[in-house]
Amino acid sequence: MDADSDKARYAGTLRAALTDLLVRQDAIHDPRVADAFRAVPRHVFVPSVPLEIAYTDDVVLMKRDETGVPISTVSQPTVVALMLEQADVQPGHRVLEIGSGGYNAALLRELTGPSGEVTTIDIDADVTARARQGLDDTGYPDVQVLRADGEFGCPQGAPYDRIIVTVTAWDIAPAWLEQLAPGGRIVVPLRLRSQTRSIAFDLRDDGKWGRSLESRSMTVCGFVNMQGAGANDERFARLHAGLVSLSFDEDQAGAPLPPERVLDKPKVSRWSGVLMHREEPLSDLDLWLATTLPGYCVLSAERRALSKALVSPVPRWGASAMASDHSLGYLTGRPAPDPDFVELGATGHGPAGENFAQQLADQTVRWNETLRGGPGPKLEVHPPTFPADQLPSGFHFRKRHHYLTLSWPGQPMG
Ligand SMILES: C[S@@+](CC[C@H](N)C(=O)[O-])C[C@H]1O[C@@H](n2cnc3c(N)ncnc32)[C@H](O)[C@@H]1O
Repeated sequence: MDADSDKARYAGTLRAALTDLLVRQDAIHDPRVADAFRAVPRHVFVPSVPLEIAYTDDVVLMKRDETGVPISTVSQPTVVALMLEQADVQPGHRVLEIGSGGYNAALLRELTGPSGEVTTIDIDADVTARARQGLDDTGYPDVQVLRADGEFGCPQGAPYDRIIVTVTAWDIAPAWLEQLAPGGRIVVPLRLRSQTRSIAFDLRDDGKWGRSLESRSMTVCGFVNMQGAGANDERFARLHAGLVSLSFDEDQAGAPLPPERVLDKPKVSRWSGVLMHREEPLSDLDLWLATTLPGYCVLSAERRALSKALVSPVPRWGASAMASDHSLGYLTGRPAPDPDFVELGATGHGPAGENFAQQLADQTVRWNETLRGGPGPKLEVHPPTFPADQLPSGFHFRKRHHYLTLSWPGQPMG
């Protein structure tokens, strides 16, 4: 037995263990997705890290830009699995992946089988070269790898049954809709008010206004930001010398910003009585607050801001917040009698701080009473030609190319 076959056998054992973990953690349900995870040697696509790291459920950073910001990764296996489950790729499908790395393209090739086709494109020539090499080395030479800006899709391989975007987008590019086959699906990490959700959208019948999309599932995820023509500008307001920052989306360009030292102003807290398990995600509540509160933004804090007790956001890496030109409010928590739970509330600073804290607490109560544990929100995408007064009811995001409407089944907005 030589060293290479020992390594391959050890890699196979680690890969099987990772796949079992993803099944146990409910990231994989479809046995075909599990088989693909057992088949594709992830370590070949991340040669810079040891085998044990290649088969840990973690993202592997591959490239930073000149300022140190990550711009290319091989994604976390859990996220890859959740998106493949959302995509429901079938044998014979033609699939376009936007954002390469090679690993996910190989998994897609396993799922399409020999009668299908996979094309993967990336804006970065280093990435396409690395993906090409990895796919050749692992036995997937028939995956097409091209360098292109994903904003324009890949017309030469269209139409696609599935388009899977693996980089954070701020809007649905018109080319993706044009290049989708009838009955097709797009899975895309979409940013909505500084929160990213991987959303699976199904194509709706062409109406007289053009193609539209309707979401069928949503899951929380994180990806690097899109570059090129679809790049989106997140706007940050830095408070207290950068210890705390607020992020706003591109369509909130005129949003007023609070004074840099707003957190020095007296603090007021309001409590909701709503208890959350410490492990329970706040993702639906955050989207509810994002679409019901004026001046919505997301507050994140450096570790030092937390240790100095300057802020106590929940969750600490990005809390729902409200801002105006003089005040700030954000979601917080305090221990509940059961140590596994926290009671949600809100803290405000500045002249409108009390009002902001009250609004955040009131909407938390409303979400808890009417939506918590329900089916979650639905997102619809309509072309700009669609008459604004005929859009479905809900919260309307006006993005660059499309109207996005977020609604909560069974709950009128207002
Ligand atoms: C998270 S990585 C993709 C991971 C990959 N799917 C895998 O198998 O692990 C995101 C990639 O998107 C690429 N990217 C960023 N903007 C893009 C654009 N406009 N078009 C195509 N690719 C883009 C980056 O270069 C980066 O390699």
